[in-house]
Amino acid sequence: MKICVNIIFIVLMLPLYAGVDYNSEIQPIFNSRCTNCHSGSDAEEDLSLTSYNNVMNGGDSGDVVIPYDHANSLLWQYINSGFMPPGTNDLTDSQIDLIAEWINEGALPEPNEPMVGDLNDDGVVNVLDVVLLVNSVLNGGSADDYPQADVNGDGTLNVLDVVTLVNWVLYGDDGACIDYDGNVYETIQIGNQLWMAENLKVTHYRDGSEIPNITNNGDWSGLSTGAYGDYNNNPTNSETYGRLYNWYTVDDDRGVCPDGWHVPSMGNIQY
Ligand code: HEC
Repeated sequence: MKICVNIIFIVLMLPLYAGVDYNSEIQPIFNSRCTNCHSGSDAEEDLSLTSYNNVMNGGDSGDVVIPYDHANSLLWQYINSGFMPPGTNDLTDSQIDLIAEWINEGALPEPNEPMVGDLNDDGVVNVLDVVLLVNSVLNGGSADDYPQADVNGDGTLNVLDVVTLVNWVLYGDDGACIDYDGNVYETIQIGNQLWMAENLKVTHYRDGSEIPNITNNGDWSGLSTGAYGDYNNNPTNSETYGRLYNWYTVDDDRGVCPDGWHVPSMGNIQY
């Protein structure tokens, strides 16, 4: 029997979010180059370019911006051909391209924020997104280009994002209690409070900075900054008991608990 092995190459197709911001990037162009003729009651062709809504209301010819279609948008045609602004003071190529990009992204009033974890932009987070994320990590993708892939929000794409995303897919991202390192904790509902049912064992603050690991008993007492230890200095104990943190870690503004979770207050305990 001959077995034919197919190697399937998965093509990386992540939507790239440039996210042109109308107010800070497009309106200033109109303000400096267009509104002296396109504003107020005597606006040329009744086209006012003083605000997003006015632009989208169009002029005597109807809509001048067709979302997602710069080539069929009269406004782009006129600036691209140099007809607007009148005379020889054309917009620069990069301004024209930026307006095309804004139109092609949907001519939105503000940039469309990608949904974190939804790498293929299909509205759901599932195993397809995990495949894309693994590819992206292997190919050295950057969190700047693919913010939706930076699942733990630390500014880099690496295996921790994969661990977290796999956990989201398996456990969901609302009820699930997942820390920065990707550890998943059992939870228990008590009255109207949701508690973690296991001890914390994370080694990073929520922003990704490391919590120092102190292994020498003598060093503990002199500290005035956050640190953790393992029971008996044996990291495998953290699986059973969680890790031991000093007060400075608990009190740190960066947050030691998973996103959306907090250290219980006296009020929470006495409830
Ligand atoms: C010096 C005055 C002036 C400036 C500045 C100017 N325009 Fe115009 N605009 C006109 C005139 C005049 C018309 C009518 C042209 C015609 O159809 O013959 C017009 C028409 C238009 C139309 C067609 C509107 C419609 O409904 O038919 C668009 C789109 C347009 N301008 C966009 C722009 C943009 C974008 C800018 C800035 C980059 C700009 N214009 C700057 C004078 C100006």
